Amino acid sequence: MKSAPHIAVVGSANIDLTTFTDRMPRAGETIFGREFNLGFGGKGANQAVAARLCGARVSMIARVGDDLFGPATICDYQARGIDASRVLVTPGVSSGVAPIFVDSSGQNRILVVKGANDRLLPADVDAAGAVLREADCIVMQLEIPLETVYYTLRFARAHGIRTILNPAPGQPVDLGEIANADYVIPNETEAEALCGMPVRNVEEARVCAEGLLERGLRRVIVTLGENGALLAGTDGSRHVPPYRVQPTDTTGAGDAFIGSFACFLASGCEEGEAIARANLYAALSTLAVGTQKSFVTRERFEQEWAKAA
Ligand code: RIB
Repeated sequence: MKSAPHIAVVGSANIDLTTFTDRMPRAGETIFGREFNLGFGGKGANQAVAARLCGARVSMIARVGDDLFGPATICDYQARGIDASRVLVTPGVSSGVAPIFVDSSGQNRILVVKGANDRLLPADVDAAGAVLREADCIVMQLEIPLETVYYTLRFARAHGIRTILNPAPGQPVDLGEIANADYVIPNETEAEALCGMPVRNVEEARVCAEGLLERGLRRVIVTLGENGALLAGTDGSRHVPPYRVQPTDTTGAGDAFIGSFACFLASGCEEGEAIARANLYAALSTLAVGTQKSFVTRERFEQEWAKAA
């Protein structure tokens, strides 16, 4: 395995405002939540942190606001050893924020206000061209403008750089453009948004993924939470089973999967093993509250991997 692959994330950073509650208030009703947690989040930042904790060298290409959260986010990247030289503070705009509600079963509901993430434009990708050209893998999500995602995918294809697209949050996209990604990795609801059919189990994920391949996508991995993941490519499809845990908070588990998968794959891991490892890394993240706060170190991961093998 290559020891420290270089992963570049072109994506979002949010501040997560997580409330733990047994139920959601009705319209006009005030209720008490159980607990509150403030932390660094955003799908892009989460994936960058997961890749970094797994041992990758990570560069973040992002925008934050000129509020309290923007500089704090940059400091957090620096403290984690993530290259934040391409994270720009955007005047007059708020940072991205995400009010999150977690119920007693650990399931989450997330509302994202994009703020500065929406100002990350193709010109920022060009400005980061030197960093991106030497990456082993570029990772993207959909909390930044779609034109920036499409532009980055075209840039990466033109330069022969491997890409992973997490089409989250689910929204209408141009399949012709995202077909430039080497891997498209949705969860069940994001897969539904892409293929327009329900995805509730492994079999439906297979039908959806195979339909997406027919429409030009290269490799699709549908993450299925407690049901593991389904990989589909022109060479066939296979189910990679989950690691069973009792979740406390599933927020960010998908990001833990993507960031760790990018690192394991770029380290030279065989694809099936990289998915199995990412399944375990994501499962471990559900054992603690918060998003990035719940991601484990590579050392802790390897201990659990050895036990699970
Ligand atoms: O995937 C979890 C993330 O979604 C949270 O950190 C939140 O910020 C939203 O981007």
